[in-house]
Amino acid sequence: MVARWDCASFALVIAVGLIFSVAEVCNGGKTSSFVRNDQLSHDMPLDSDVFRIPPGYNAPQQVHITQGDHLGKGVIVSWVTPDEPGSNLVLYWAENSELKHQAEGIVLTYKYFNYTSGYIHHCTITNLESDTKYYYEVGIGNTSREFWFRTPPEVGPDVPYTFGLIAIYTPQYKWLQKEFQKVNRTETPWLIVLMHCPFYSSYVHHYMEGESMRVIYEPWFVQHKVDVVFAGHVHAYERSDRISNIAYNVVNGLCTPISDLSAPVYITIGDGGNLEGLVTEMTEPQPSYSAFREASFGHGIFDIKNRTHAHFSWHRNQDGYAVEADSLWFHNRYWSVSEDYI
Ligand SMILES: *[C@@H]1O[C@H](CO)[C@@H](O)[C@H](O)[C@H]1NC(C)=O
Ligand SMILES: *[C@@H]1O[C@H](CO)[C@@H](O)[C@H](O)[C@H]1NC(C)=O
Ligand SMILES: *[C@@H]1O[C@H](CO)[C@@H](O)[C@H](O)[C@H]1NC(C)=O
Ligand SMILES: *[C@@H]1O[C@H](CO)[C@@H](O)[C@H](O)[C@H]1NC(C)=O
Repeated sequence: MVARWDCASFALVIAVGLIFSVAEVCNGGKTSSFVRNDQLSHDMPLDSDVFRIPPGYNAPQQVHITQGDHLGKGVIVSWVTPDEPGSNLVLYWAENSELKHQAEGIVLTYKYFNYTSGYIHHCTITNLESDTKYYYEVGIGNTSREFWFRTPPEVGPDVPYTFGLIAIYTPQYKWLQKEFQKVNRTETPWLIVLMHCPFYSSYVHHYMEGESMRVIYEPWFVQHKVDVVFAGHVHAYERSDRISNIAYNVVNGLCTPISDLSAPVYITIGDGGNLEGLVTEMTEPQPSYSAFREASFGHGIFDIKNRTHAHFSWHRNQDGYAVEADSLWFHNRYWSVSEDYI
């Protein structure tokens, strides 16, 4: 699993396999030599039809769709009306059907300093047939606009599915809150969080850069009994004890992480190798939360045996041998038979 994430990105991993090996998370691949010039793009000029404001009073603008459920049988249609709320309805019909359905959505607005948004509509259409072309219509009378989409094929192990990805700001806080609630530890015994920037790192480089994220998210990790958190960013290896620092409220002086058996182990595994090299400078003395740290290249293996036991090993490989330099038995935070297990 090699990926590159933004500092503000998370992934919850559903650990179902027996072996989960972790590699460096910020080791980029090829860097394109293409340099974008500063001129406006000719491919999509500002007067192109996708940007044009549609004619007519209160005509729907910025019409777009998003996947509306996990199976692909739901679609969310969103649009903006500039002058008044207008209609919340979406009319839709399958390509080969005369029967028009309708769904009703919601409308909202927001203010940002002196800016007031238009009327933003979101309408979820559900129970769609798989692999079917649908037409849909928003707006009223002579300002109504028609578009189409095709639903993905039925979910299955060998179904090809192509989708586009566009990076936009996502409300990650709300996402993670919902995601944690969906986890059923009977089905997903091991709760593993992957993130870019570590909460606990005692290297000088990037020191405390994850702090604002930690303050917000760490209580959830403890509450939901996350087993382990893997982070990259810092090009070195480090493993924490099970600790938390959630009691601190700026004035109570409780600013030292304490032993907490409901807390995850934090592992910085940013040592897969990178052009920039290792970070070697460490804060001294080694903080008490830091169980092991070593500035070498290497990799980790998280070997899940069953719902209660997993073995983690970190292998230094700078010397050409896959030496196990650090290792630890993990006892699942949810299924552990004894509260005293590390
Ligand atoms: C829509 O119809 C109204 C009258 O019903 C008319 O005033 C208006 O110009 C029409 N708008 C467009 C875009 O055709
Ligand atoms: C909002 O404030 C900015 C800065 O003061 C100003 O340039 C802009 O015209 C204002 N916009 C509106 C819609 O009032
Ligand atoms: C969790 O999953 C198990 C096994 O599939 C199921 O029996 C149980 O009802 C689920 N619990 C919740 C709260 O959904
Ligand atoms: C889970 O794995 C551990 C380590 O291999 C083993 O000691 C333990 O007996 C296993 N538990 C069950 C229920 O099989």
